[in-house]
Amino acid sequence: MDRDFILTPWESEGDIDYTRLVERFGLNVISNEMRYRVADTAGEDHFLLRRKIFFSHRDLGVILNSHQSGPGFFLYTGRGPSGNTHIGHLIPWVFAQWLQKNFDVTMYFQLTDDEKFYRDAGLSLDDTYNLALQNARDFAALGFDPNKTHILINSRHMGTLYPLAAQAAKKINYSNTKASFGFGNDTNIGMIFYTALQSAPCFLERKPVLIPLGVDQDPHFRLTRDIAPILKYPKPALIHNIMIPSLAGSKNKMSASQKNSAVYTTDTPNQIRKKINKYAYSGGQESVAKHRELGGNTQTDVSFLYLWMFFEPDDVKINNIKKEYESGSMLSGELKQILIEKMTKYMEIHQNRRESVDIGEYIFDEVEYKNKMRR
Ligand code: TRP
Repeated sequence: MDRDFILTPWESEGDIDYTRLVERFGLNVISNEMRYRVADTAGEDHFLLRRKIFFSHRDLGVILNSHQSGPGFFLYTGRGPSGNTHIGHLIPWVFAQWLQKNFDVTMYFQLTDDEKFYRDAGLSLDDTYNLALQNARDFAALGFDPNKTHILINSRHMGTLYPLAAQAAKKINYSNTKASFGFGNDTNIGMIFYTALQSAPCFLERKPVLIPLGVDQDPHFRLTRDIAPILKYPKPALIHNIMIPSLAGSKNKMSASQKNSAVYTTDTPNQIRKKINKYAYSGGQESVAKHRELGGNTQTDVSFLYLWMFFEPDDVKINNIKKEYESGSMLSGELKQILIEKMTKYMEIHQNRRESVDIGEYIFDEVEYKNKMRR
C-alpha cells in the first residue's frame, strides 16, 4: 500500500492527492453532464458543485432518477462532536440545506457523541453530549426546514437506532472494518461496533438516501453499501466534498481538536483577524518586490482557498481576486484583509442565528417517527 498520504475517518496525514484517492477509494468523479443534470433538476446551480468542491459521488444518478420518476429520496449527514464547529464542517451542511430546499426532502442529521467518546481519551460522554448540543445549533442555524429535519443524538436516540445498527452489525465482519480503518488488537470494541451506528440512519426510511459528506467518511459507507442489499435496502448514495485545508496549509485538514488549525463558528472578530493574519498559510513571495514580479500561488494560499471554497460564491469576484493575486498586483496582506472581512460578516450573521435558533424544533421525535413509519 502506498503510504505517502493517509485519509480515513479518524486519520489524515500528508498531502491528499485526489487523483490517487479516486483510484484508491474507487470513487466516481462528477462529470460535467452529471453536474448539469443536478442543476437542471434542482432548478439552479450551486457554486460548490460548479467549483468541484463536491467532486465525486456514488449512485447520484440513481437519486435523480428516483426523484424524477420513483419514490424520491431523503438526505442524511452527521457530525462527530469533538469540539466546536469549524468552517470545514459547514461545507456539506450548507450543500445539504440547498438540496433540501430545492428537492423538498426530509433530512436526518446524526450527532455521534458516542463515537467521539470512544475515540478521544480526553472527552467524557457528558463532554461529547454537550458538544453535540452546541454543534446542533450550528447545523440548525443554516436554515433547514424544521418540519422536515430531524437531529439524532446517538446517546439519546438508541431506541430507534439500535435495531437498525444491529441489522447492520450482524452483516459486517471484523476483517472488513479492520482493513477499512486500520484497527488493531488494542482498539476498543466501541470503535469496532461504531460503523454499524453510522450506517443505521441510512435505514430510517425505505427510500433511497443521499449523503453529502467529506470524502474522509467514505470508508464507513463503502461497508454500508456492501450490506444494504442483503438487508433489502437501496445502497446509500454519496456526494463527496474535498477536505478544507487547515490554517497551516494543505498538508493538514482542519481539525476540531487542534486550536490554531481552524477558524470556529464561535470565534470573535478579533480571533478571526488574529488567526488569519498570524496562521493562514500564505502563497505569497518573501518580499514585496519578488511578489510584484512573480505573483502569489492560489493553489496553496489558504486565504485564497477559503474564499474559493466557501466565502466568495461570486464567480466574477473570485476570478478577479485570483487574477490580481497571481499577477502580483494584490499582496498577501490585502488578500487576507478580504477574507477577514468576508468571514467576519458571515460569522456575525451565523452567530446571531445560532443564538436564536430553537433546536427543540429539530430534535428527532421517536413517537412521531414511529407513527409516520406505521402509515
Ligand atoms: N463520523 C462523522 C464525524 O466524525 C460523523 C457522522 C455520522 C457522519 N454520520 C455521518 C458524517 C454521516 C457524514 C455522514 O464527523
